[in-house]
Amino acid sequence: MLDRKQRLRRAASTAVGMAAAVVVLASCGATGPHNKQNSLHPAGPAAHKILNLMTPFFWVAVLVGCGVLFATIFVAVRFRERPGDDRSPVQTHGNVVLEVSWTIIPFLILAVMAVPTVATIFDLAKIPKGPDVIHVDVAARQWFWQYQYTDKGTGFYTANEMHIPINKPVVLTLTSNNVIHSFWVPALAGKKDVVPGHPNTLTIEASHPGTFLGQCAEYCGLSHANMRLRVIAESQSEYDAWVAQQQTPLSDTKVAQFTKDISGKWGCASCHSVTNRSSGTDKVGVTIGPNLTHVGDREAFAGDIYPMTLDGLTKWVYDAPGRKPAGPLVGWMPNFSSKGMTLSDAQQIAKFLLCDTATDPSAHPECR
Ligand code: CUA
Repeated sequence: MLDRKQRLRRAASTAVGMAAAVVVLASCGATGPHNKQNSLHPAGPAAHKILNLMTPFFWVAVLVGCGVLFATIFVAVRFRERPGDDRSPVQTHGNVVLEVSWTIIPFLILAVMAVPTVATIFDLAKIPKGPDVIHVDVAARQWFWQYQYTDKGTGFYTANEMHIPINKPVVLTLTSNNVIHSFWVPALAGKKDVVPGHPNTLTIEASHPGTFLGQCAEYCGLSHANMRLRVIAESQSEYDAWVAQQQTPLSDTKVAQFTKDISGKWGCASCHSVTNRSSGTDKVGVTIGPNLTHVGDREAFAGDIYPMTLDGLTKWVYDAPGRKPAGPLVGWMPNFSSKGMTLSDAQQIAKFLLCDTATDPSAHPECR
């Protein structure tokens, strides 16, 4: 038996532990229901179907869980050992009725739940067809997402930030040339693994405008957590305008500034392109790093982890591995500060990336 002091100490440490848990849970506020990354707030048909499947299963699980919990507590209290009571409990080992029923009941519950589950899996796996369907090839890299819009009249590359028109199914073809990743935008669809040598498809669709955040959901190396993405759902006319922006090539002067002046010194063009066409004489040369043609139009960079600002880009160009760990990965953006780049060099390059690639440079206060 514990004495009074010990009991008090135990109660105090339990209270401290619970208080700490409350503080930790409260700090999860940024990951709460309004973080744009919530499968309980679906924003499109696929995510709705998943939630509609999950909700009844949740309540079945609550019912079963509470039933087991209360039965356990009831039995523990009702049949507890009392002072002076030294009877052995009734032995039920080998009771056929009991053993058959606790096997059959869970089997029936799971069998019933399997019916809508399998139906939903097949439903979500259907690949929509028709003139209204948008197609995007998604290539998972360590660590960012490359997109190529492949429908007629598009055919351009971009990274991390995907624009889609509302109420139109968008079929993603997911590929990887390195390790397994997983594409996940919780408000729009379920997860889908991105497997080397095995293209997968995933259909996403948004039923209202908004920005929906996502992330890689399969551990893929040191910067797995820095492999985020955003989907911007907008009206058809806003989407068409965005497509037109993305299609517009940079002027020859700007391309030369990048490929000759900047890359001539630092070698940027061996991984990044500033043209994003998939055909023609000036088509994309390399797709190792994110396509930079209209990087200044995006809201964030480096796997969607840093807001698109001059200061952020400058620090990134200066020392990328210091801002996003890569480990011993070959071909990763080097630490240019150790290769003789000064902060002012980095800022000049950052200014090009922010202001010269943006369709509307005045959208950035630093470019005005
Ligand atoms: Cu890509 Cu985790």
